[in-house]
Amino acid sequence: MPPLSGRDLLSLSDLSPDELAELLAFATELKAGKHHPQFPQKVLGLLFFKASTRTRVSFSVAMYQLGGQVLDLHSGVTQVGRGEPTCDTARVLDRYLDVVAIRTFDQAEVQEFADYASIPVINALTDLEHPCQILADLLTIQEEFGTLKGLTLAYLGDGNNVAHSLLLGCAMAGMNVHIAGPNGYAPAPAVVEQANRLMQGLGKVLVTTDPDLAVKDAQILYTDVWASMGQESEAGQRLPAFQPYQVNSQLLEQASSDAIVLHCLPAHRGEEITHQVMEGAASRVWEQAENRMHAQKALLASVLG
Ligand code: CP
Ligand code: NVA
Repeated sequence: MPPLSGRDLLSLSDLSPDELAELLAFATELKAGKHHPQFPQKVLGLLFFKASTRTRVSFSVAMYQLGGQVLDLHSGVTQVGRGEPTCDTARVLDRYLDVVAIRTFDQAEVQEFADYASIPVINALTDLEHPCQILADLLTIQEEFGTLKGLTLAYLGDGNNVAHSLLLGCAMAGMNVHIAGPNGYAPAPAVVEQANRLMQGLGKVLVTTDPDLAVKDAQILYTDVWASMGQESEAGQRLPAFQPYQVNSQLLEQASSDAIVLHCLPAHRGEEITHQVMEGAASRVWEQAENRMHAQKALLASVLG
């Protein structure tokens, strides 16, 4: 088990490259049923301000399989949803819970919670990052190719939370990461710079508006919704600019012949990905979704251990 006892995961870069590799190896062992770590009496709180299917359910099932309990603290049933300050909520929940996963808008909120709480705080998605998703993505890629180092992942679409965590995760794993999207929707320059630093000369970061250039020789094509939670009102107006970045059969043909397709889900078929590709032979989206549970079980056991 990686020695992450008591640690937070607010950004994927809170892990060192070695810790990331150890966590993925541990997730693989848990998935194979080699270990059954148990944390009876431990309670995970899920403090969510946005909708979730995979993250909520996979965290819950993972915690139950670890012998612990889960409290679903979505914003509609908590005082924090009515404006109680994060710093007050953090100090109170800290005294009840053993670990908390937070899904919210502003990264500063998970940071503030972590500043005021001593228990492990896990980022279950913010506007800036989605680190738990990328743990499962890297696990899926490693299962497919037997390694991560030297592979090329092409992400098509919005430079959003998923793109940011992919940049960091791929960099830490020694992969090449290509991000292609329309002008005005590139990932945050600070995250791109951070990914470049984390690469340590192993892989390369490419940020481009050219989808063909991005997918050339890529072993992994990855996409996500063109408008994230909180941006729904912009969804219609974004469509024309994003259309060239749709993951469809023609784009897939330009990638490496053994390329797989990933999507964090939920997907909008006919927008960022076609039904044909989503259901096609290259799709690994269901394996990827399953791996959320194995990766997060490894994370929970490691921070509780
Ligand atoms: N991929 C993901 O985080 O899905 P949910 O929004 O359903 O949790
Ligand atoms: N970028 C998406 C991911 C959903 C899992 C969003 O933030 O809505």
